[in-house]
Order: sequence, then C-alpha cells, then structure tokens
Amino acid sequence: MTMAINNLKELYIAELQDLYDANQQANATVEKLIDAASCPDLKDALKNSIDGTKDGNKQIKSILDSHGEGVGDETCLGMKGLTKEAEKHVLKEEFGDDSVRDAMLISQYQRLAHYAITGYGTVEAFAKRLGDLENAQTLEQCKEQTMEGDLHFTKLAQASINKDAMAA
Ligand SMILES: [Fe+2]
Repeated sequence: MTMAINNLKELYIAELQDLYDANQQANATVEKLIDAASCPDLKDALKNSIDGTKDGNKQIKSILDSHGEGVGDETCLGMKGLTKEAEKHVLKEEFGDDSVRDAMLISQYQRLAHYAITGYGTVEAFAKRLGDLENAQTLEQCKEQTMEGDLHFTKLAQASINKDAMAA
C-alpha cells in the first residue's frame, strides 16, 4: 500500500520520481537499440538521446533534491510497457533488410521519446502552478531538448531511412 497523494505538490514530486524511473528504463532499452541500428546517423542520434536523457535525470534529481526529496523507488509501468514493446518489435522480429529494421526502430524509439515529452510537460506545468519557477524553466528546457531530439529522428526517417526501406 502506497501513501496517498494529497495535493499538487505531492503529485509534482510523485511525477518527477516516475519520470526519473521512466528515463532510466528508456536509456537501458536505447542502449540495446544502438546495437540493433544499422544507419550510422541513427546510431549517433540514439547515443545523443542517451546523453540527453542522462542530463534530464540529473536535472530531475537536483529538482527533487531542492524539495528535500530523493528519486524514490517508483517503477513506471507506462515505460515498462513501451520498452517491452520496443524490444519485442526491434530485437525479436525478423527483417528482410536492415533499413526496414531501422524504420521500425525509429517508430518504437519515438514512442519512448513522446512519453518522456508528456512527462516533462506535466511536471513543468505543475512547477509553474506551484511557483517553482526556476525548476519550471529547467523542465521546459528538458522538454524542448527531448522534442528537438525527437524531431531529428523524424528527419532521419523522412530523409533516408523510410526511402531505403521502401526500396528494399
Ligand atoms: Fe509512469
């Protein structure tokens, strides 16, 4: 039995802790996706994503710290499902061509990224409402960094990988 979440401040803390765990789970799966990726630009993008997520978690940890809270021991079941899904589709399925696997990889990666973007958006809004303005700004930056990263994957797909997969 977990403790009740009584107000927006407690919800803010709980969601930061949830996002921290989601980020950790995402990175463990993205490590595996790097090995599965063929396109060198895609591998690089995945490596950058890991760095960005690590940086995000550093920020989340320090925000929790500023409220006298730790990262907690929450397991984010949303990200658990998404990482299982990504690993199933990218690592366990067979593909006739590497480009098709890369296209699948992007489609799965973007689901993880979008989950993180909504997570950041939520805690940013809570931080603003609570007057935790400096941290709100940090969370907005994390959200924007994640969105930029995500857009890069869209560009990779549209510029080459989807085309290669079509020709395969
Ligand atoms: Fe979650």
